[in-house]
Amino acid sequence: MRKIVIAGNWKMYKTQAESLEFLQGFMSELDATPDEREVVVCAPFTDLGLLSKSLHGSRVQLGAQNVHWEDVGAYTGEIAGAMLAEIGVRFVVVGHSERRQYFGETDETVNLRLRAAQRHGLTPILCVGETKQQRDAGETEAVIFNQLAKDLIGVDQQNLVIAYEPIWAIGTGDTCDSAEANRVIGLIRQKLTNANVSIQYGGSVKPDNIDEIMAQPEIDGALVGGASLDPKSFARIVNHQ
Ligand code: G3P
Repeated sequence: MRKIVIAGNWKMYKTQAESLEFLQGFMSELDATPDEREVVVCAPFTDLGLLSKSLHGSRVQLGAQNVHWEDVGAYTGEIAGAMLAEIGVRFVVVGHSERRQYFGETDETVNLRLRAAQRHGLTPILCVGETKQQRDAGETEAVIFNQLAKDLIGVDQQNLVIAYEPIWAIGTGDTCDSAEANRVIGLIRQKLTNANVSIQYGGSVKPDNIDEIMAQPEIDGALVGGASLDPKSFARIVNHQ
């Protein structure tokens, strides 16, 4: 069975004080009825320890936004999988387009990070997606298939979430048409060996488009940036019909 996974990616937003303020509002807005939906908050490293304590016993799970591929070593500024697992982190975003674009992340390092996450029992959320230029050139499928082929070498598909995030839809308010997102996600699924991998859509997901996105049969959740920063908006997205 494919699980619904709704994850917020806070990117480089929220101090510890701001993250606690968010939680107060967010938890009070979440529908009380427990359901099968996984709810994840992917916070900056500095918030994780505090959030782990605050979220203990709740239905909200903790995610990080990066993990290094080595288990220990002289890698200034990096975080190892064991460090995340020790404080209760369950998910980690890997291969986000912002990391690929600004921090030299390649398919090779994405692959190494995915495998490191899994070695430590973390569930990676692998992000793939095309630029506007690639879409306009009709290269969407080729770009994504190439990312998947390289990123997933040696990766255990029993413990994996994929997020289809068209780069042109991130932070732009320009959501990918939900039927088109559904089509691309269906194509991604055909490339996987495990048909039960949850595949999210990400890119300008908001309270007013989540119902339409989640009504698509191939879409198993959302990776939410901007709208996950506001407790009411993110709760509305999690509570979608
Ligand atoms: O990882 C989520 C993200 O890149 C989408 O951001 O702000 O368009 O929801 P946003």
